[in-house]
Amino acid sequence: MSNFKKTGKVDVLIGLQWGDEGKGKFVDAITPSYDVICRFQGGPNAGHTLEFNGMKHVLHIIPSGIFHTEKINVIGNGVLIEPVIFKQEVDELFKKGVNAHKNLFISKKAHLILPTHRMMDAANEIAKGKSKIGSTLKGIGPAYTDKIARNGLRIGDIMREDFRERYEALKQRHLEKAQSLKFDITNFNIDGLSLEEYENRWFVSIETLKDFELVNSEYFLNYCLDEGMNILAEGAQGTMLDIDFGTYPFVTSSSTVTAGVCSGLGIAPSKIGRVMGITKAYCTRVGAGPFPTELFDKTGEKLCALGNEFGATTGRKRRCGWIDIPALKYACMLNGVTHLFITKPDVMDDFDEVKMCTQYEINGEYTDEIPFEYNDVEIKPQLQTFPGWKENLEDIIEYGALPKKLINYLEALENATGVPILAISTSPDRRDVVWRT
Ligand code: GDP
Ligand code: IMO
Ligand code: MG
Repeated sequence: MSNFKKTGKVDVLIGLQWGDEGKGKFVDAITPSYDVICRFQGGPNAGHTLEFNGMKHVLHIIPSGIFHTEKINVIGNGVLIEPVIFKQEVDELFKKGVNAHKNLFISKKAHLILPTHRMMDAANEIAKGKSKIGSTLKGIGPAYTDKIARNGLRIGDIMREDFRERYEALKQRHLEKAQSLKFDITNFNIDGLSLEEYENRWFVSIETLKDFELVNSEYFLNYCLDEGMNILAEGAQGTMLDIDFGTYPFVTSSSTVTAGVCSGLGIAPSKIGRVMGITKAYCTRVGAGPFPTELFDKTGEKLCALGNEFGATTGRKRRCGWIDIPALKYACMLNGVTHLFITKPDVMDDFDEVKMCTQYEINGEYTDEIPFEYNDVEIKPQLQTFPGWKENLEDIIEYGALPKKLINYLEALENATGVPILAISTSPDRRDVVWRT
């Protein structure tokens, strides 16, 4: 276990690919080194998997530090909360012996996802037809749209006497929009419930939210910093899904990069400490959009099967391919990554060879930059081949004990990105982290 020296700053752990890099596992593994763990963007579109003591847990909205019951967890202002999913998560944790009421604080400025935001997500996807995003349909796009359009409802609003009226007014807007898209509202359901039934559950779940400590989290977190506490900001999604820098429009609707920590928590840029960028030793993507190194052959199938590449939120099969250096370099640049964390090399333990895309060929020209026309041009990945290590990584606890051929691969990755690797994960379990000291 790495024990980070306390800096009194906000360290960041951010996904460098298209999400699902293993953020949940690593946040849980390094939580002992922190006092406060926060989510700063996204919402229940995230699915963060943690494994320990032979048990698997999936979190969607609550930070991955929650199982360390002595630590403070914060849902920041940049996050979207869907009350029904939140309540399910709280109830699930309670069954596992974790009372989130004790150590979870929620920003009053976090926005709410209404049942009709979820309906609008479905309506928008249908309206897009062939060019649909492949959204998780949790209402993310429509809820952030209302936030930016200054129509949204915030967690602090649930305490207002006229909350129901405000809710009805926003719902009405959504119903009108759905009608204009000719969306069939009567046959729409969420988790098998009609809109009305789901709405009832939603209001019951609002009562659960009222029992939590609702705070001005920007003051709360800056106070923690003043007290010298170590804060960890847990990213959701990944850099290539960022609203500005991702493969737009095939992205999510929030700032998934380090800059999002400042606006999503109320933290000044000067308070950012380490930026830990996390990447799989290969690459996956779920949903639509470009993915230059995607494999459509048996190797892709093998990565999917051995990596158990099925979405933690929707169960969808993830697309699989080789690691993409131009995308990683771009992500390191945008996030100011100071340390790399690598996950899932064990998935390729039995591969004869492993490939790395070092640059792209586009219209006969070579580049290692992400072009504006990413979605429109044919990108031919230029692949460098490495011999497979053909060794089981189980039980390896020291960097020097890793197979030489894996070290060779990791160092090529390090050289290409110019960022040092700090830790390597070798299984889903929180204990299986090889630290490079
Ligand atoms: P997140 O969204 O970034 O938290 O990642 P997900 O939880 O959606 O997906 C990562 C998946 O890989 C989960 O099933 C993890 O349990 C699993 N995982 C994480 N690290 C490793 C690793 O080093 N090896 C293997 N085999 N699985 C891992
Ligand atoms: P974590 O935090 C992987 C993808 C969706 C879709 C696009 C937009 O577990 O890494 P949205 O529901 O946000 O409107 O979907 O983004 N997506 C993710 N892919 N991991 C995630 O989160 C994702 N969250 C959203 O598949 O392509
Ligand atoms: Mg995930």
